[in-house]
Amino acid sequence: MVNNRPRPPELSLAKASAKLAASRCVAVLTGAGASAESGIRTFRDTMEGLWQEFDPARLASPEGFARDPATVTRWYDTRRLGCLAAEPNPSHLALAQLERAMVAKGGEFIIFTQNVDRLHQRAGSRHVVELHGNILEWRCTRTGRVVELEPQAQTEFPPPSPFSKDGVLRPHVVWFGEELPRAALQKALEVCPRVDYFLTIGTSSTVYPAAGLIELVDRGDCTTVEVNRESTGASGRVDFALVGSAGDIVPRLVAQAYPTSAA
Ligand code: OAD
Repeated sequence: MVNNRPRPPELSLAKASAKLAASRCVAVLTGAGASAESGIRTFRDTMEGLWQEFDPARLASPEGFARDPATVTRWYDTRRLGCLAAEPNPSHLALAQLERAMVAKGGEFIIFTQNVDRLHQRAGSRHVVELHGNILEWRCTRTGRVVELEPQAQTEFPPPSPFSKDGVLRPHVVWFGEELPRAALQKALEVCPRVDYFLTIGTSSTVYPAAGLIELVDRGDCTTVEVNRESTGASGRVDFALVGSAGDIVPRLVAQAYPTSAA
């Protein structure tokens, strides 16, 4: 006898989609895995993660920058050019499509991203909170003023500041030991209590405070869903842990919830 019952992942996906279709306020948390299929390296994956090859204390901390600003800014400039050359992948596009569907039905939608690549915005998402800043803008160390760099590679490291002859430019990202932008945290505190669907995509859920967002929504009336290639610290506490690649699962999740909303 042939058993045509859907396999458990399909069933979970269908249930998670049905809950999504019924939701009024959706918050999404994305991490490096959401951009992996755009060719941007993650941080902690065993084979390809950046922190396997590079030392975060040297390259992603104020102390590392103070010690060797040329190396740090050169490294970030290379990554900046990589982000500019990358294209949004199907998971970015599906999230933009989900936002349009939510707005059309009078609901709320917001993405909190740990990614600094701006790919959500380039995919068409409008409500994006950058928890860790973005790599396309750089900040004067003297004045704090921010400038978006031209698409070409920088020629001096650290780049001189256009705002002050004593300052240099550093990437406008959040480094280890630095505080997240106050407005981003405030937005999370404001929105999370009324979220009825929380979707975490492609993050190892190890870096706080981003990893703590799930604690703000973890109530009986909020559906929690994780999309990740592997199991993380969040997998055990979500309602649906959907194992697979973001570029495959997120478009299916959105298409099942909003079949007529395709871009
Ligand atoms: P990580 O590199 O820590 O985790 C990436 C996650 O994405 C892992 O759990 C992978 O299993 C998953 N993953 C990889 N490819 C995937 C795919 N195609 N589809 C779905 N999941 C996939 O990245 P983050 O959690 O974003 O901060 O890291 C958080 C912060 O730590 C970063 O913002 C960065 C880093 O150090 C700073 O630089 C301050």
